[in-house]
Amino acid sequence: MKNGLEDVVAAETQLSDVNGEAGQLVIRGVSLDRLVEYARYEDVALLLLDGLLEERLDRDSLCLRLGQMRKEVFSHIGAIDDDLLHLPPVDIMRALIARLADGDDLDTALRLLAAPAVFLPAILRLKRGETPIAPTPSLSQSADILTMLSAAVPGAVQVAALDTYLVTISDHGLNASTFASRVIASTKAGLTSSVVAALSALKGPLHGGAPGPVLDMLDAVGTKDNAARWLGRALDRGERLMGFGHRIYRVRDPRADALKGALTQMIAAGQVDRDRIGLAEAVEQSALAILKERKPGRPLDVNVEFYTALLLDALTFPRDAFTGVFAIGRTIGWIAHAREQSLEGRLIRPRSVYVGPLPKAA
Ligand code: ACO
Repeated sequence: MKNGLEDVVAAETQLSDVNGEAGQLVIRGVSLDRLVEYARYEDVALLLLDGLLEERLDRDSLCLRLGQMRKEVFSHIGAIDDDLLHLPPVDIMRALIARLADGDDLDTALRLLAAPAVFLPAILRLKRGETPIAPTPSLSQSADILTMLSAAVPGAVQVAALDTYLVTISDHGLNASTFASRVIASTKAGLTSSVVAALSALKGPLHGGAPGPVLDMLDAVGTKDNAARWLGRALDRGERLMGFGHRIYRVRDPRADALKGALTQMIAAGQVDRDRIGLAEAVEQSALAILKERKPGRPLDVNVEFYTALLLDALTFPRDAFTGVFAIGRTIGWIAHAREQSLEGRLIRPRSVYVGPLPKAA
């Protein structure tokens, strides 16, 4: 029995490869550092879906139909009543996505890609007491998300930063939410069911729920000078430092550098608070030093969540929405894996070892 299924191979995939020793992520044959140089969200959607659905699309028709789907799913925001609005954003998204029709076709896939991108900005505006803004189908997915969020036309640097984020987190091997998506797909339940299950797995703090707590940690540290002392005390209390450590990576998470690159562009454009970045850098350096000292047997480096927190904060997403933005990007990976599993895999049905009491002899 392997607790946590560590090192257990449970699927063959052509979608992504995570090399934890080398710190490399490959998505359908393209290394992440290369991918973020040229690819927009729509490019990665095409790359990941290629050959997995009966209907094929070129880039222009994908943009067109995705834009139309954003318009279609916007009609569902009327379902957000007062009870729903009190829940965390990611739970409202899950409830709204669960209302969508199930299926395995291209329309279902595009609807599921459009849904979180439309729902999250609308939810955030409603929570602020503002009217949701309808999507603009002619915009790219990233530009439309930022427009629906703020009602202002976003700058090119901001759109590029969000694109980099969505590309960077689009797929990542057999992580917990992707595995959940494949388990559901193996029963032939449909893409919507897979995505709802995956989103439920993503929201946990050990998976996609960590970037908000990264900012909480930075707030608690407060100043650069306090970093080493605060982090040391947190470890004394047995706490984990948010944004550090990974099940697979034994070196720096390559996604952290991709996001740091986008953040650097935003800093150059004067769109990030320099004090915040200075504090984050001091916390990163102190955390790496103290983790090396306290956990000498376990290489612990920065993970994707650390720079996600800084980037999404700079893009004005509130911290309780970070997991929802993660879901916007990762939905394409969940859909591709669900289709791959459905086309090539078997029903996923592992065994357990019974360690409970035995029945009493009669
Ligand atoms: N801070 C302090 N200690 C840590 C951290 C951390 N962030 N991460 C791991 N450790 C320590 C553990 O305490 C443990 O030490 P021990 O052997 O002395 O008990 C050792 O490293 C191994 O920890 P595991 O729990 O076995 O490592 P696992 O691979 O299960 O954990 C995880 C990976 C959950 C991401 C972990 O590193 C963690 O909790 N990090 C903080 C939360 C976080 O950043 N989550 C986002 C992950 S990225 C993503 O999923 C998208």
